[in-house]
Amino acid sequence: MQHQQLIAALPKTELHVHIEGTFEPELMFAIAQRNQVQLPYASVEELKQAYNFHNLQSFLDLYYAGANVLLKEQDFYDLTWAYLEKCQQDHVVHTEIFFDPQTHTDRGVAFATVFNGIYRACQDAKEKLGVSAYLIMSFLRHLSEEAAFETLEQAQPFKDKIIAVGLDSSEVGHPPSKFERVFAEAKKQGYLIVAHAGEEGPPDYVWQALDLLHVNRIDHGVRSEEDPQLVQRLFEEKMPLTVCPLSNLKLCVVDDMAKHNIKRLLHKGLKVTVNSDDPAYFGGYMNDNFIAITQALDLSTQDLKQLAINSFEASFLPDAQKMAWINKIQAL
Ligand code: HPA
Ligand code: ZN
Repeated sequence: MQHQQLIAALPKTELHVHIEGTFEPELMFAIAQRNQVQLPYASVEELKQAYNFHNLQSFLDLYYAGANVLLKEQDFYDLTWAYLEKCQQDHVVHTEIFFDPQTHTDRGVAFATVFNGIYRACQDAKEKLGVSAYLIMSFLRHLSEEAAFETLEQAQPFKDKIIAVGLDSSEVGHPPSKFERVFAEAKKQGYLIVAHAGEEGPPDYVWQALDLLHVNRIDHGVRSEEDPQLVQRLFEEKMPLTVCPLSNLKLCVVDDMAKHNIKRLLHKGLKVTVNSDDPAYFGGYMNDNFIAITQALDLSTQDLKQLAINSFEASFLPDAQKMAWINKIQAL
């Protein structure tokens, strides 16, 4: 099988995608118009021309601005549904989606409005698209510990529908230690734990995510490679890293895809996975990410299958479901 055909045929899970980062310019303009909100760009083309990032913060500024047009439950439904259709096209059979409640509640949109729109789209996708979804509530790390505790409180009525809590936004200057107590409380309440670490931040932030937050997965984690003892720890614990190749390229975490470390980390036996992060902003969904690294790093059939297997092993699906999908991958 050609690599491109294999990528399309492999069942996959996505473990690192921000729903606000799937907001395509066309849908953004349509929702802005129906909500009578003015975007600071005259056209879809002008907006796309602004997608010229040089680091994480330059992206986040636009990402939060785009989210401003989301006001009603239907807006969150339409956003999520559009992403889940992309999952079906890319044979992503299961996805674990981040949502950032604070991006919306800080603008006066109720938590329930955000949550119900996203959740209803996920329920419909299970039935109509054959794509399953879990939800991960992420705290914005540039905001305070107190604000994160308030968000955890607001999530209480929806607790059984949220699999995990996470940590995103501006990394440098906002280490995991800032949220140690919030994550301890979340864990006590039964949430699984993930955190962005080692994207722009140093390996020390990955150590903190492991030792202070007690994460089940590390989001990004590509800078872990700078610390051999940390690589050994990640290997021994079979700790998943949700790597996002096109994101790393667009945000200048790497300056050339041929220099990306995902293949080296895979061959060291780390549980790395492929993900799209903010696909509407970074130029591609799941299969685009697979194709980009396959071409730049000359990945083999076995590498591609291992990445797909890792995505199931690193997911929060029940073991029986993981095994059923992994058997299908091995039979391809
Ligand atoms: N890193 C941190 N915060 C984010 C990202 C990211 O890649 N995408 C959306 N919020
Ligand atoms: Zn991310």
